Amino acid sequence: MSGPPARSVSTPLLAVEQLTKRFGRVTALGAVDLRVAERAIHGVIGPNGAGKTTLFNVLTGLVAPDAGRVTLGGIDLTRLPSFRRTALGVCRTFQNVRLFGSMTVLENVMLGRHCRTRGGALAPLLRLPWRASERAATRRDAEAVLEFVGLAGKAHHRAVDLPYGDQRRTEIARALATEPRLLLLDEPAAGMNETETVEIADLIRRVHARDVTILLIEHKMSLVMGLCERVTVLSFGEKIAEGDPAEIRADARVIEAYLGAR
Ligand SMILES: Nc1ncnc2c1ncn2[C@@H]1O[C@H](COP(=O)(O)OP(=O)(O)OP(=O)(O)O)[C@@H](O)[C@H]1O
Ligand SMILES: [Mg+2]
Repeated sequence: MSGPPARSVSTPLLAVEQLTKRFGRVTALGAVDLRVAERAIHGVIGPNGAGKTTLFNVLTGLVAPDAGRVTLGGIDLTRLPSFRRTALGVCRTFQNVRLFGSMTVLENVMLGRHCRTRGGALAPLLRLPWRASERAATRRDAEAVLEFVGLAGKAHHRAVDLPYGDQRRTEIARALATEPRLLLLDEPAAGMNETETVEIADLIRRVHARDVTILLIEHKMSLVMGLCERVTVLSFGEKIAEGDPAEIRADARVIEAYLGAR
């Protein structure tokens, strides 16, 4: 009598093994291991320059690692180009918002759909007749995502005209439009006030409730400790601690390297 396959409980969605990235003499990531469980909200914290954004850059294929391996659901991503990773379900937002400012909110989100349509990146924006049905479907999908993030009323505003908090929301909407399995959020609450931070936490919870696994970089400890079931701490490219929020708050190395200074 054999039980269920071990894979169902123990295999992480994301596995990072011995990931290393150097920039000249700086070791941004020094043989980092990380496992993110399926459907987790997993935090990544640490002081400025710890390597958090570099981790996301390597996970999304923006930066090639010097060594190490990245797998998603057992599929090796390490050498895949970014667009293939997006198609496999890895998507991210940026520490500094990156939107097409002169395009509308809706158009920005429609661009996020391109990896799920046949016509490619520009298809949603082209008005060729034979693309009409695909364009209409893309538009409906994008409108549904905007409704979900609470921006339906601003679909036709130019992205650049939105308040900062709404720009961040638009970026999350564009990422959601790709239908990610793993969503990487790089400081989603940076620059937000208390109210906006609570709202973004609520949005992250609702995304998570749709079975999206979330890896969250954030300096706002209220957000990290309130949302994450597990937290990894980086310092100078090294993993110095990992555990649940209570363990992390009490960890002497983490207090010394990061929390104590805040
Ligand atoms: N493209 C690059 N070229 C050279 N050095 C880089 C590059 N990207 C990152 N670094 C360096 O790698 C280290 C890690 O940077 P990274 O941006 O990953 O830190 P971080 O943890 O995201 O910090 P922060 O909290 O300030 O966003 C830093 O010393 C940084 O200067
Ligand atoms: Mg960063």
